[in-house]
Amino acid sequence: MSVRGGSDVRDRENNRNMTSKETVRVTYKGKEIELPVLHGTDGPDVVDIAPLNKELGLFTYDPGFKATASCRSELTFIDGKKGILRYRGYPIEQLAEHGNYLETCYLLLYGELPNQQQYDEFNDKITRHTMLHEQMMRFYQGFRRDAHPMAIMVGVFGALSSFHHSSINVTDDKGRDISSIRMLAKMPTIAAYAYKYAKGQPFIYPRNELYYTSNFLRMCFSVPTEDWHEDPVLSRALDKIFILHADHEQNASTSTVRLASSSGANPYACVAAGIVSLWGPAHGGANEAALKMLMEIGSVKRIPAYLERAKDKNDPFRLMGFGHRVYKNYDPRARVMQKVCHEVLEHLGIEDPLLEVAMELERIALEDDYFKSRNLYPNIDFYSGITLRALGFPTSMFTVLFAVARTVGWVAQWREMIEDPEQKIGRPRQLYVGPEKRDYIPMDQR
Ligand code: ACO
Repeated sequence: MSVRGGSDVRDRENNRNMTSKETVRVTYKGKEIELPVLHGTDGPDVVDIAPLNKELGLFTYDPGFKATASCRSELTFIDGKKGILRYRGYPIEQLAEHGNYLETCYLLLYGELPNQQQYDEFNDKITRHTMLHEQMMRFYQGFRRDAHPMAIMVGVFGALSSFHHSSINVTDDKGRDISSIRMLAKMPTIAAYAYKYAKGQPFIYPRNELYYTSNFLRMCFSVPTEDWHEDPVLSRALDKIFILHADHEQNASTSTVRLASSSGANPYACVAAGIVSLWGPAHGGANEAALKMLMEIGSVKRIPAYLERAKDKNDPFRLMGFGHRVYKNYDPRARVMQKVCHEVLEHLGIEDPLLEVAMELERIALEDDYFKSRNLYPNIDFYSGITLRALGFPTSMFTVLFAVARTVGWVAQWREMIEDPEQKIGRPRQLYVGPEKRDYIPMDQR
């Protein structure tokens, strides 16, 4: 097969394709076809490979989707080389500095930043759906006290599907909207109760007068024996952290939600599948793993030994919180996170030796040829653990907080997929490398 660029105009049926004049010509076994090239509003052009199979009977092979766009999306744009992240066109730095999490949720769900009236209505709807059905509270008792809170999250969030199934019509705008509101509203309550259950403390009901993030902090840290006083600096810090994690285009957990729901499955169950995928240490579990690693390193003088381990191909150890599939430059979220980390520690008057270890580790790694040549930079998880620990969360809750923040991304991507006229059930193919046809041998002859 040979591949080369062409220039014929090709108009495809779907005018959303933003088809360019360019095409890619592919020759295979003497037959030449042209593949349309699609332009996005930003980012690299994309080759439409559907004719490869239709006209040449070929599949493409791309383990890990390193070069494959699985859908078109208007939500989030990442330029990994330049270190850019935007939600619906707005740079992440501006949203974190000037916006709040709830308006970011509105932006991701509905496409525009809300005006005051839209914001108030949205806030009101979310606020009025934060309570859990009383029967849901009993699920927690079934888990071991030492269960990882992510395991509890998967079970309890998935159980929402048993409360809201026959009433959901995902093909109806209103049905999708109310499900979206419920998921966003109930996720912090489910997460706070996972924390309270592990602590052996009573569940704290949500309060409607409190803002989303403040309400979450209160449900986590308040106890019935005394009044809870909000620290606005810490609430704002967590709100920024939520903004940074709100969406990240077609990552593993988001793609999981899209693939699971492409069959038309219940959205609560599909988001539970997203929580599962997020849990892994190569994805959302990295914040927990990064803090554990910093604790293990413990002091600046031990850094070189750990860097050597990270570079050793025979050692499975990797620098957690470093490297990213898409960012081959500094993760823009890591910059904001580092600033939030300093603000929180300064506000609380904490001198965390792990911050010194992290900063020195970053400095040395960024000067090291191994990391430079592979474009390995700190990602969002590198500084988030230190910050979340200072906010009072145990390491086991870090990925849970990520899940709370990412819920809006999963939900917005799910909505976009269902509303996409090109939507089809996700069904990748494979390169079969197993045995060729062979005949069954009776057991006594094997
Ligand atoms: N430490 C040491 N070496 C690394 C690291 C690391 N953290 N990350 C990548 N490398 C090396 C690999 O060994 C490989 O080297 P080679 O070319 O000599 O074989 C090269 O860099 C490329 O790495 P890949 O694994 O091919 O990159 P991929 O895009 O598949 O992986 C990933 C990205 C999973 C994030 C990886 O960098 C990693 O494991 N990082 C640590 C875990 C982490 O922090 N995950 C959080 C991601 S952010 C998020 O989910 C919010």
